[in-house]
Amino acid sequence: MGRVITIGSGDGASGKSFLAVNLGVVLAQRHLRVCLVDLNLRTAELHLPLGVRCPKRGLLDFISGRMSHLEEISVAVEGISGLRLVPGTGETLRPSSLKADEVAQLVHGLNSLPADVVLVEVGESASRQNLDLYLAGDRQIVVMDLHSETYAKSTEHWLRLARGRRTARGSAVTTVPRQAQIYTSLEDLVKDMTAIRDAEQGCASPVGVFHPVLVLNSVQPGSHKKNLAMVEKLRRELGDDVDLPVWAEIPNDSAVLAAEDSFEPLVISDPGASAAKAISDLATRVMTDLGAESLEDSLPASLETSLSPDYS
Ligand SMILES: Nc1ncnc2c1ncn2[C@@H]1O[C@H](COP(=O)(O)OP(=O)(O)OP(=O)(O)O)[C@@H](O)[C@H]1O
Ligand SMILES: [Mg+2]
Repeated sequence: MGRVITIGSGDGASGKSFLAVNLGVVLAQRHLRVCLVDLNLRTAELHLPLGVRCPKRGLLDFISGRMSHLEEISVAVEGISGLRLVPGTGETLRPSSLKADEVAQLVHGLNSLPADVVLVEVGESASRQNLDLYLAGDRQIVVMDLHSETYAKSTEHWLRLARGRRTARGSAVTTVPRQAQIYTSLEDLVKDMTAIRDAEQGCASPVGVFHPVLVLNSVQPGSHKKNLAMVEKLRRELGDDVDLPVWAEIPNDSAVLAAEDSFEPLVISDPGASAAKAISDLATRVMTDLGAESLEDSLPASLETSLSPDYS
């Protein structure tokens, strides 16, 4: 199964959707099978620039068990071979209303998607649910919008909370939450105690698979040195156990807004734009991380063949 990359940020409107859509398109153009997943439940908008209309099936169908695989609610993106989208919902679903087993079900769904790369946008509110979904990635992109006045603090805050959550949870999102509980059977008590003991053992382990990487967005010309100093400071604040490489510096580019107005991904409407070129470089970085350079020469993706016909 594919590599899961989650995309989060400490601030809203930092460019997560812009990044997810355009990176997804470029990776698909390079013949990877890509699945975008919109788990930003509050502002689910990934479908807009991709021309995907309101889907018949949604996340609630998956969470309720009516659909047993996340790909059953995915749709093919027209005109871009190899790109699929699990769209966000218009449903009354809020991150804070997701139960632990539903989050675990979503995480399992992400890991089971038949794609080379799964790109997941998560919401910026630092609820346990959002943080757990963010931690589901093999890599966690944190988008830092240099436009925002609070970007340094909010990014540090988001990463600290995610790291704390990872350490507290031990490893994957599979343990039960600690909360007051009345047990009606000895069996339930033993089951819960076992889960709590396992979680405690996890607490002793280091941060482990928490691998955040930075994408600087809305970068102003000539600010590279200043930005590097800011990133160094952030690394110092976070401590030695977080590496935090910078994977991209995406310029502030009016072409991004023009593409948004035309409901098209920038890398398609204006591939020569400076922000589009930065996304293309980021795609190369992602592919290197995936060890997927060799896939550049492979045959065009045919995700459809690995899905049952009634999914599209
Ligand atoms: N590099 C850039 N240059 C210019 N405008 C940008 C850039 N990146 C993003 N934007 C614009 O900033 C706005 C917010 O971007 P986007 O919707 O991708 O953010 P988001 O983090 O997904 O927001 P939300 O938290 O609401 O989901 C959009 O209008 C987008 O076009
Ligand atoms: Mg968004």
